[in-house]
Amino acid sequence: MKDTAINVLKILEESPDPVSGGHIAERLGVTRSAVWKQIRELRRLGYNISSSRAQGYRLEATTSRLLPYEIHKKLRTRFIGKQIRYFDRIASTSWVGKQLAGEIDPGKLHGMVIIAEEQTGGVGRLGRAWVSPAGGIWISIVLKPGIPIDRLFMITMAGSIAIARAIRKEYGLSALIKWPNDIFVGDKKVGGLLLELAAEADAIHYTLLGIGIDANISLSDLPPNLRDVVTSLKAEVGHEVDRVALLARVLREFELRYQQLEDGEYDSIAREWKSLSLTLERRVAIRTINKAFEGEAIDVDTYGALIIRRDNGKIERVIAGDCFQL
Ligand code: BTN
Repeated sequence: MKDTAINVLKILEESPDPVSGGHIAERLGVTRSAVWKQIRELRRLGYNISSSRAQGYRLEATTSRLLPYEIHKKLRTRFIGKQIRYFDRIASTSWVGKQLAGEIDPGKLHGMVIIAEEQTGGVGRLGRAWVSPAGGIWISIVLKPGIPIDRLFMITMAGSIAIARAIRKEYGLSALIKWPNDIFVGDKKVGGLLLELAAEADAIHYTLLGIGIDANISLSDLPPNLRDVVTSLKAEVGHEVDRVALLARVLREFELRYQQLEDGEYDSIAREWKSLSLTLERRVAIRTINKAFEGEAIDVDTYGALIIRRDNGKIERVIAGDCFQL
């Protein structure tokens, strides 16, 4: 959003009464037609602005879009989301993140949040497609972590905790985490995380934490094969949710946990993750690249690995793979 549009918006936000185009133009030192152009742009961005010839313009309702201007009004973080890149419709925030990290020193991007209203080529774990229509929250957070490489999976744990906590605080829903990276409400998935990594053996260039939350999605907009296993916040609470408030909350909750990781407080993260786990003390089927087995999920360690007691009593430690709850 351009500065002039923001300045026009600020004037409308300050005034409960209609403001004339002439008055706005005078305050900003621009022409009335420039004001009208910005009003048109603001409407395009979803702001409901009424106009009457006699009285002028009035902001009736704010936008529901995840515009950086709106997010920054609510964001209470130190570094996560201070820089935002916002897109209407792109293939994937993850793809944009990789492009940016190739062009700009990732240290300068630390904490940047890339947002898309809609993704046409969203990616999930293991290269699966991630359906991302308008109404969801589709973001990637760029990080240059100061965390040992073998603890990196804990970034996903921190993100999962943040989403579950934010959903609980905003809507009172009992959101839980299914290992490794799914957020569930009841027995349906409402969100997922994807941690991507650019590293050499001993140096992490950057990580991208992709977060997808089915916020204001009508289940009828999802492909039929997903409708039995996926839900949305809108479907759970029975009305559209305030995505800006939710995202600002997720980013704050994430920053708090990420800071714990940087401070080496791995036990705290593992403990909180376990308190929100849907997987522990359940029978599960595990499929990794080289084996498949069943057993009871008995623990998650401070590296994010799932610990399984197999039926023959053998203990398995799984750091990556699919987990099906039986
Ligand atoms: C999963 O459960 O498989 C993880 C899904 C992660 C989806 C998010 S949406 C924002 C970011 N961009 C993508 O293309 N994917 C991640």
